[in-house]
Amino acid sequence: MRVCVIGTGYVGLVTGACLAYMGNEVVCVDNNEAKVELLRSGQCPIHEPGLPEILQQVLAQGLIAFTTDIGAGIHHGEVIFIAVGTPPLPDGRTDLRYVEAVARSLGRHLDSDYRIIVNKSTVPIGSGDWVRMVILDAMQAAANPHPPHFDIVSNPEFLREGSAVYDTFNPDRIVLGGNSAVALEKMQTLYQGIIDRTYGADKTLPPVPVVITDISSAEMIKYAANAFLAVKISFINEIANICDRVGADVQEVARGIGLDSRIGQKFLQAGVGWGGSCFGKDVAALIHTAADYGYTAEILQAAVKVNQQQRLLVIEKLQQSLKILKGKTIGLLGLTFKPHTDDMRDAPSLTIIEHLHRLGAKVKAYDPIVSQSGLRDGIAHVAVETDVERLADGCDALVLVTDWPQFQNLDYPTLATLMHQPLFIDGRNYLDRARLEAAGFKYIAIGR
Ligand code: NAD
Ligand code: UGA
Repeated sequence: MRVCVIGTGYVGLVTGACLAYMGNEVVCVDNNEAKVELLRSGQCPIHEPGLPEILQQVLAQGLIAFTTDIGAGIHHGEVIFIAVGTPPLPDGRTDLRYVEAVARSLGRHLDSDYRIIVNKSTVPIGSGDWVRMVILDAMQAAANPHPPHFDIVSNPEFLREGSAVYDTFNPDRIVLGGNSAVALEKMQTLYQGIIDRTYGADKTLPPVPVVITDISSAEMIKYAANAFLAVKISFINEIANICDRVGADVQEVARGIGLDSRIGQKFLQAGVGWGGSCFGKDVAALIHTAADYGYTAEILQAAVKVNQQQRLLVIEKLQQSLKILKGKTIGLLGLTFKPHTDDMRDAPSLTIIEHLHRLGAKVKAYDPIVSQSGLRDGIAHVAVETDVERLADGCDALVLVTDWPQFQNLDYPTLATLMHQPLFIDGRNYLDRARLEAAGFKYIAIGR
């Protein structure tokens, strides 16, 4: 099938590359010229396991092309994915300006051939109809001579950063919202290889469930899924905080409740809280949607509040051990919001750095992916070291913020000797207490 993907970020690039790998002819459009140039030269602009290899292969096969020319992309695609960013506005509502710009371009460039326009970006409930309206208005404004000949489908994305390629080929479900049988059938044909598990890790599994629904329900499924996961993490963090007070171990508790199949083991890792580009913005957007319709989303608000407090818990624990933080040096192990990604959007590390700086501490950090030069504009008050020994040197405490697997195997006895005080706060409950204590550390975790 001929596919166009507009927006080559974490979602668009992975979607485009995987659809090309399945034999489709894909044109990826982005208005960031530097990114398009990089992609054309075969380089991957993001850290995503497995993606560079797939990109190299589909480029060599001529199955994928990258352009800044949105008109060319639109003319190419029978199926056109909108995968641009939907960041939060300062008040927490969704900034739809990038989706709107794409919809306007669609209105200018659509011709008389039938097109399926797929909302893959996470967009507020009702956006399917709104995108249709913007396209029709733009067709009129541009005096586009062709009669409208397109359907809108909502196809929310559930991939996780750090395992985006795996998740694309091994999804738990595919959600398709729309009211055109033709469009919904064509979308299932596009995804058939994934549904059949041709590209999956375990080909013996039954087919991937496809949830066919109306557009609003599909849009709500995306928000409800992210909101549920965020609530689940905030729930276990709240339990961890109670464990801390009563002397229970949250990891034992998580195991004990997770074995109940109605609860499940996943997303019960207590720590510094959730971050990333989506949980915070999507929960905020759902709270706003609820408010727009006269409902106060109490559970969602509480989940956000617990998460805000959770990020500061490591500061509290540092203060309990070190008392005054002014003039102390704190080393952070990990900066990204989770391992296996270079993404720093809404990372808990950023909140921790800001608070430590405000309290007068000097902050150093080491991350396997993020270097000082790789820090985004606006990230300040932290010196990024090139290795863990430099990080530990002279520190009053180390704080594990991101559970990168590399951190399991560090030479902790040596790190302890390099420090001014061997204090270790494990913000992800990731390491073995006995090992760290044997290495000479005072080890403090979350809810254990
Ligand atoms: P991103 O910021 O990484 O990428 C967006 C891309 O769109 C950028 O490359 C940008 O240059 C491009 N773009 C913006 N305006 C454009 C335009 N007018 N024309 C062409 N290109 C344009 O975003 P992302 O993380 O990939 O997220 C995209 C959407 O997918 C969001 O709605 C997000 O909520 C949703 N989502 C993200 C994830 C994730 O893990 N990142 C997972 C599921 C859903
Ligand atoms: C999340 C969802 O898992 C995806 O399904 C969704 O598509 C995506 O958001 C999105 O809409 O962008 P992602 O943000 O990539 O994916 O990462 P997660 O693995 O969900 O982790 C999110 C945050 O929660 C991370 O900071 C992680 O460290 C934290 N987390 C996760 C915990 O603190 N405890 C856990 O048990 C699990």
